[in-house]
Amino acid sequence: MTTRTAITIGKHTLPNGVVLAPMAGVSDAPFRELCLKLGAGMAVAEMVSADLRLKDTRKSRLRRQKSPSETIRSVQIVGSEPVMLAEAARFNEAEGADIIDINMGCPAKKVCRKAAGSALLADEALVADILSAVVNAVDVPVTLKIRTGIHPDARNGRRIARIAEDCGVALLTVHGRTRADRFKGEAEYDTIADIVQHTQIPVLANGDIDSAVKARWVLEYTGAAGVMIGRAAQGQPWLPGLIARQLAGDINALSPPLTEQCALMLIHLDALHQFYGPLMGVRIARKHIGWFLDSLGAAGNPYSDHDGPECHQETPLSSLTVMKRDFNQLEEDYQQRQWLSQLAEGLAQPRKGSAHDITAMPFSRTQPNVVAA
Ligand SMILES: Cc1cc2nc3c(=O)[nH]c(=O)nc-3n(C[C@H](O)[C@H](O)[C@H](O)COP(=O)(O)O)c2cc1C
Repeated sequence: MTTRTAITIGKHTLPNGVVLAPMAGVSDAPFRELCLKLGAGMAVAEMVSADLRLKDTRKSRLRRQKSPSETIRSVQIVGSEPVMLAEAARFNEAEGADIIDINMGCPAKKVCRKAAGSALLADEALVADILSAVVNAVDVPVTLKIRTGIHPDARNGRRIARIAEDCGVALLTVHGRTRADRFKGEAEYDTIADIVQHTQIPVLANGDIDSAVKARWVLEYTGAAGVMIGRAAQGQPWLPGLIARQLAGDINALSPPLTEQCALMLIHLDALHQFYGPLMGVRIARKHIGWFLDSLGAAGNPYSDHDGPECHQETPLSSLTVMKRDFNQLEEDYQQRQWLSQLAEGLAQPRKGSAHDITAMPFSRTQPNVVAA
């Protein structure tokens, strides 16, 4: 196994090189907290607009919340004007950001009728202006997240990396798709490898990494310093930490048993209800629990690590769909909690002949609101 040097970002040294990706609507404080507690090396917050006129909206306030386990707090800003981005960086530094990350990876259309996110990659002079303005505005390190370029025929990631290095950016994350690719097709890692070869700053490789096997392959193929995990962590907040432990050679590291996964989802559920309040919390919980249920239906589902061969069958997707539908119809926070508690209890007391057959559990065919207060 290759020994990797620790990733340093300014004065910060990451405990490991597996970082949770910024995901708007997903990597909020409750999710980051759980991922960090479960071993992620760092968790980047959801992007916030560089337009400080929006700083007091409920959305911006929530996105600025720190999670308690966040010893290195990376705040991502998105915008298109160097002065505005520099001011936003200063504001977020004053609010406690340890790292300012700049979003040039999002395929978002426009911010304030101007190109932002990955659209900026088309204008290398503007990229340089933004990066130098932000780096000069703050004392904390500045990191940059990009795609490999604008279009498969215009992959200028290597030139952008050079600009970033010249401007004093401390770390670069590269998503192995172009802006035109959006999320289509598979991530490619040749451009990431090329960027790594031609820059001195640490690079995180990102895109379609969902296991330690894939992460190890990507690290070796690209020479990147670490990896960033996005969608694969949805519904599986233990995944970045698990990948980190497996990469570090912990041969005993396995996905948590299904009962523990449920217990973690209960913690997540409570945190979401508390963070967003009952109304919004219930809505936001639906997608997280939905992803969790999806992960139970995925081939090679992790609880097979722990149980006998009879558990290796996949849970029928149709039953999971029914379960998801049922959960989505619950309107109250206590109902969601009770539903998930029942799932946890059912898993703790496996039914005869089917150790972890979650589809055989009573709530899987409940009608809305049958869970009593
Ligand atoms: C729901 C969602 C929201 C995202 N929001 C952001 C964001 O706020 N900032 C950003 O730089 N990238 C954002 N991304 C892109 C991810 O950070 C990541 O680059 C991308 O999902 C590829 O990694 P993956 O294949 O591991 O998911 C988002 C992706 C998703 C799926």
